[in-house]
Amino acid sequence: MFILVTGANGQLGKSIKSLVKQQKISHSFVFVTRNQLDLSSPSNIQNYFETHKIDLIINCAAYTSVDRAEYYQKEADMINHIAVKKIAEISKSNNIKLIHISTDFVFDGLNHRPYFESDASSPLNIYGKTKLEGENAILSIMKFNAIIIRTSWVYSEYGNNFVDTIIKLTQKNNNLNIVSDQIGTPTYARDLGQAVLNIIKNDKFNELDRASEIYHYSNEGECSWYDFAKEVTNILGTKCTISPINSENYPTTARRPRNTIMSKDKISKEFDIKIIFWKDSLKCCMKNLATLSPPNKE
Ligand SMILES: NC(=O)c1ccc[n+]([C@@H]2O[C@H](COP(=O)([O-])OP(=O)(O)OC[C@H]3O[C@@H](n4cnc5c(N)ncnc54)[C@H](OP(=O)(O)O)[C@@H]3O)[C@@H](O)[C@H]2O)c1
Repeated sequence: MFILVTGANGQLGKSIKSLVKQQKISHSFVFVTRNQLDLSSPSNIQNYFETHKIDLIINCAAYTSVDRAEYYQKEADMINHIAVKKIAEISKSNNIKLIHISTDFVFDGLNHRPYFESDASSPLNIYGKTKLEGENAILSIMKFNAIIIRTSWVYSEYGNNFVDTIIKLTQKNNNLNIVSDQIGTPTYARDLGQAVLNIIKNDKFNELDRASEIYHYSNEGECSWYDFAKEVTNILGTKCTISPINSENYPTTARRPRNTIMSKDKISKEFDIKIIFWKDSLKCCMKNLATLSPPNKE
């Protein structure tokens, strides 16, 4: 199989690239950055697929800045919805399989139990709305051969993310105030990347004309951003203390859902995927982070 991975400079794209390098996988991967395939133009996407033979697309690219999306709605819609629609149309007409990554922010966060894939979506912000429109475009165009994986609170060794931010802030502050009334589950991008690779290797994924489906994937367990930050400082062994605050005391441009814990039963049963506890994965990421030289963290 020829596999195209978009968003190669992002957290998930880089994690998949690193896993592919380390493992023996009998497929050819092409990793494309924004410079190589700019998704902001549907004709660009069309041209790319006219000149490249691809069997599977793993779409890791997205407009991921949740607050900026409130001001740059058109740009967010272009990448998270219009480009995804175009990718789905091309996939359908060329018999290409598609694995697309979506978000827990399609939910309003009012549930008192983990979200199932079948639960109603009702995004609170533009980012969530554009991602949901991307999902809906795929499901209406591709009745078969598409997988949508909703994930949450993604962090990694690469680029800017919550873990990286907390590590940097603890170096300059004695105390940090972190929101404690938003609950979810962190996702180590490397674990998500491995889950994607395991799906590709699974015979069920390779069945001909398999019905398109949504799955949820994060690490196991649940926490608030406060718990998450506290665990980062525990692992660091820093003296910086973490204090809980309410969302009202940390205003953001985009509204965020209060509870986005997701059930992972469907993906773990169907593709035999082991879900690792979030604290174990965090330890693993921070260990890797400590051994990486600065250019590789970018
Ligand atoms: N991060 C999270 O907490 C989170 C939570 C839930 C779901 N997700 C979903 O998980 C997936 C992977 O997220 P991530 O954390 O890996 O995101 P990320 O680190 O922000 O990476 C996204 C990538 O998309 C690329 N991109 C943006 N606009 C593009 C364009 N016009 N053309 C081509 N590429 C473009 C970016 O390119 P540049 O590097 O050039 O900017 C970036 O490399 C996304 O679908 C995201 O919506 C993420």
